[in-house]
Amino acid sequence: MTTPVWHPYAHLKTQTPAPKVVGGDGAHFVLESGERLLDATCSWWCMIHGYGHPRLVAAIREQAGQLCHVMLGGLTHDPADQLARELVRITPAGLNHVFYSDSGSVGMEVAMKMALQYQVLSGNPGKRKMLSLMKAYHGDTTGCMAVCDPEEGMHSLFASLLPQHHFAPAPTAPFDASDEQVEHDLSALREVLERHHCEIAALLMEPLLQAAGGLNMTSPAYVAGARALCDEFNVLLIFDEVATGFGRTGKLFAADYAGVTPDIMVLSKGLTGGYLGHAATLATDRVHNAFIGDSPQHAFMHGPTFMGNPLACRVALESLRVFEEEDYLGKIAALNRLLRRELLEDRALNAYPTVADVRVLGATAVIEAHSADALKGVGDFARKRGVWLRPIGR
Ligand SMILES: Cc1ncc(COP(=O)(O)O)c(C=O)c1O
Repeated sequence: MTTPVWHPYAHLKTQTPAPKVVGGDGAHFVLESGERLLDATCSWWCMIHGYGHPRLVAAIREQAGQLCHVMLGGLTHDPADQLARELVRITPAGLNHVFYSDSGSVGMEVAMKMALQYQVLSGNPGKRKMLSLMKAYHGDTTGCMAVCDPEEGMHSLFASLLPQHHFAPAPTAPFDASDEQVEHDLSALREVLERHHCEIAALLMEPLLQAAGGLNMTSPAYVAGARALCDEFNVLLIFDEVATGFGRTGKLFAADYAGVTPDIMVLSKGLTGGYLGHAATLATDRVHNAFIGDSPQHAFMHGPTFMGNPLACRVALESLRVFEEEDYLGKIAALNRLLRRELLEDRALNAYPTVADVRVLGATAVIEAHSADALKGVGDFARKRGVWLRPIGR
């Protein structure tokens, strides 16, 4: 029987029926047919503890018995308060304020609105545009599409709907780049800032690892250099750690490699261990305090119905406890050693003419082909060997 479910990113004419998942445990999910597949996609990088983790399931059950939902407008509750305190504790020093929302895209929309309003309230009414990087992906909502790569991204059809922002070249320096390579990327960023800083409210970036735009990795020195440029040009720095957060790059946050604090930082995906949709947009005192004032313009006009949902906050708290108590950063380091040994050490993969590059960072492993055609059938090949893979482009 065909399902009325309209699947994401699907070509309706050529799509094959989606296999039905009935459960899962640890790194595997189980299909209706009984097939057990190792989920190498981590469900779009969110399922950081794997499926059916007993402590996360118990936390949701317990919270459901107390309070499933209440609006955060004019009210609060323990899970929201406690999670905010924990997020302030674990994120780079200075991010002291937490605004909740319900997905990574909305978390980014909140970040952009916050940055623009900050600039207006700080006496810079001309700074109303964003500066983004080529190859960036920040989400599928209208505001987010406008800061995704306008050429290679998947949203060119909607260009007429989108506000125009500025873009700087994507960094090309690899993770372990030389000073010269990083300097080359930073001078390209400087050039755009020199020309347009008067109208730029914030620079947005997925620090160290541009995820959906091609899993492109860059150097911590680029991230630190971007921080310095933002200070020089009075532009806020927004880190989209929706994908990189919670250990994906090997440290808790990608920002930790560079030792810098962004003005605004967005978390989602791994925030709840992948068990419920939620996001947090964190801000420094500098940003937050600009909103303290007498005019009606000082209120931040945003408030998703499900922001701070108690179930999501409670499972996020449990996720964080498991992460810390079970030394996940140690586990990720072990996984990283394994990935390096298997994929990088003998360079056998690079010998394939279809393979353009192989790279590993933290719990991320990338095999990039020269063309997407070379990856046709890769999903089926992996599935026959008990692994679920879903290539992105090439
Ligand atoms: C870096 C980044 N930002 C934002 C998003 C959007 O998050 P969501 O799908 O929860 O809206 C994603 C999703 O893949 C992402 O990778």
